[in-house]
Amino acid sequence: MRILGIESSCDDTAAAVIEDGNKLLSNVLSSQDEIHSRYGGVVPELASRNHLENIHPIVFEALARANITLDDIDLIATTQGPGLIGSLLVGFSFAKSLAFQSNTPYIGVDHMSGHLLSVFLEHTVEFPYVALIASGGTSSIFLVKSFTEFQLLGRTRDDAAGEAFDKVAKLLQLPYPGGPHVSKYASSGDGKFVKFPRAWLEEDSLDFSFSGVKTAVLNHCNQQQQKDLPLRVEDICASFQEAVVDVLTVKTVRAAKKHKVKSVVLGGGVSANSRLREVFSEICGKNDLNFHVPHPKFCTDNGAMIALAGYHKFNAFGPMMPEEDVYSRSILG
Ligand code: KG4
Repeated sequence: MRILGIESSCDDTAAAVIEDGNKLLSNVLSSQDEIHSRYGGVVPELASRNHLENIHPIVFEALARANITLDDIDLIATTQGPGLIGSLLVGFSFAKSLAFQSNTPYIGVDHMSGHLLSVFLEHTVEFPYVALIASGGTSSIFLVKSFTEFQLLGRTRDDAAGEAFDKVAKLLQLPYPGGPHVSKYASSGDGKFVKFPRAWLEEDSLDFSFSGVKTAVLNHCNQQQQKDLPLRVEDICASFQEAVVDVLTVKTVRAAKKHKVKSVVLGGGVSANSRLREVFSEICGKNDLNFHVPHPKFCTDNGAMIALAGYHKFNAFGPMMPEEDVYSRSILG
C-alpha cells in the first residue's frame, strides 16, 4: 500500500510517499523560515499564500522522487489540525481534490499523532510509551497506547518550549527562529551563570509553564543594562537552556515512571537541541528507560509522519467523511 502524506499546518509545505506503513519512498519540504524571519515569527496570511504557491510543486515532486504517479497511490493522508486555519486549508483542500480526481481514499490526520508516531519511520518501539513533543507551538507529554490511542498527560499552560527559545532569542537580538541560535551560543556558555526559575507547578503536575523563565531572562537583561554591564549572551543562553531542559526531562521521566513504560520518545523541532538530547540520554539511562529520538528531518514538520499516522488511522477506522473540515486545536487527549 502506497500512501501520500501532505502537511501544511504552519509554515512548512511538505509531502512524502511511504509504502506499507513505514518504508520511505520520498520526503520533500519547502520551508518558509526566510520569509517569516523578517517579522520575528510566522505571519499567518503570508504562510497560507506561500502554501498556495508551493503545494502543487511539492506534492508532485514527492511523487516524482518516489518514481510513481498519482495512479500508484492507494491512500492520501493530510493534516486536518491543529494549526493555522488558512495554512491547513491549503493542504487539506488540495488533498481532497486530488482524492476526488483520482478516486483514491483520503484521510485527515491530527498533526500531533504524526509527531507521536514518527519514531516508527526508523525504529520499532513497544507500546505503551511516553512521548514528549516540544516545538514552536506545543510542549506536551502523551502516553501512546497504540497507533491510534493517545492520552494527553501534560501540556504547557502558556508558552511552548520552542516559543520560549524564540522569544529569548528575540530579546537577545538573535535571528528567528531563535532555538538553534540560543543553542549555539549556549554551547560555549556557563549554564550555572544565572539560576533561572523552573516552574514545577503543583506537586505531580505534568503541565509546563515557560513564560516565567522568559520574563526572568528579560529582567536579568534589564538589570545588567541599568548597571551598565555588558550582556553575557553565551552564559544567559546556557542558563536559560538549562532551566528549560531541566523541566522537560524531569517531567517526562516522571510521566514514564508513573505509567510504568519502558521507553521515552522525543519529537518536535526543539528535539534538535543537543543539550536536551544529552540530558535525556543520561536521565533515561539512570532510570532504566529506552530513549528514542527520530532523525531531525522527522522531528520537525514533515509529510512522512502524516502518511504513517494516516496509514494506521485508515486501517483502524476507514476513510474520512467528505464533509469533514480542518480544526485549529488538537483533538487528542
Ligand atoms: O516542530 P517545528 O519545526 O515547528 C513548529 O512548531 O512550527 O519547531 C520549531 C521550533 C522553533 O521554536 C525553533 O526555535 C525550535 O523548534 N528549535 C529549537 C532548536 N531547533 C529548532 N529549539 C531549541 N534548540 C534547537 N536546537
